[in-house]
Amino acid sequence: MIPTPLLHHALRQRDRIKLNATTARDFPIQNLRTNIKPADLDSIFQNQETAAHWHKTLEAITAIYGTTTALGGVNPGDRRALYYLVSALKPENLLEIGTHIGASTVFLAETLRQNSATARMTTVDILDVNDPKGPWKRSGLAMPPRDYLQQLGMDSRVAFCALSSAHYLQTTTERFDFIFLDGDHASSTVYNEISWALRLLKKDGVILLHDFYPDAQPLFHDKTIIPGPFMAVERIIKEHPEITVIPLGQLPWETKSGTHGTSLALLTRRA
Ligand SMILES: C[S@@+](CC[C@H](N)C(=O)[O-])C[C@H]1O[C@@H](n2cnc3c(N)ncnc32)[C@H](O)[C@@H]1O
Repeated sequence: MIPTPLLHHALRQRDRIKLNATTARDFPIQNLRTNIKPADLDSIFQNQETAAHWHKTLEAITAIYGTTTALGGVNPGDRRALYYLVSALKPENLLEIGTHIGASTVFLAETLRQNSATARMTTVDILDVNDPKGPWKRSGLAMPPRDYLQQLGMDSRVAFCALSSAHYLQTTTERFDFIFLDGDHASSTVYNEISWALRLLKKDGVILLHDFYPDAQPLFHDKTIIPGPFMAVERIIKEHPEITVIPLGQLPWETKSGTHGTSLALLTRRA
């Protein structure tokens, strides 16, 4: 038996070697939003009007989707952060990489529905998340994400796509104003995904990362670290200092294991 810290160290070293072996890519930033500052995010998360809508939204979604905290789905505090961010930024076309059990998808789709009559999203997963034996089944949910969306009256807003992020991001002809990356968290994958995602951004678009652990340090009491997204962004910023990242840090509400910490982080660029 290898002790857990040693195993994590070995896995991280392997990830680092793979990232170092990854060919340098272009990072076209001309469409990446510049004008977001940490203070803007504070006012987004403290918006009282959004808070009032949030409580009604949570009640309506919970009545159908439940309160699952199954492994792999974004935690309830991060669902709330997605709601506030998407309510504020009002994307018309949103892309999510990493559907899994649809915990983020149902909240993103509902936010889009509240924002506009036409806003829609695509959610991509390397697995067929709606398969009868999909992740929803193994996580103890009653039905696949597509059926939950149907019950919530949002299925026409969401296109599911069972493809790898690499395949989707390199072949789609769609353009997005909000891209949420929550798929494979290996640093080399995230490095490539960000390069491809930047090409798909509409003017002033944003890229939001999940599982971004600043300085690859733990964020929660369980001491887990997912180092890949941080390592990928560290390399990208080294190669392109005009790119910057804003970790969302502490949210005004609880997220996971009694803390207010979040691994959400916005990719942006210096003005
Ligand atoms: C952390 S889960 C996403 C959680 C989801 N956002 C939620 O809240 O339920 C990551 C998902 O990414 C998918 N995934 C892993 N590698 C991928 C890849 N290369 N391309 C697309 N999806 C991938 C996995 O199958 C998994 O369902």
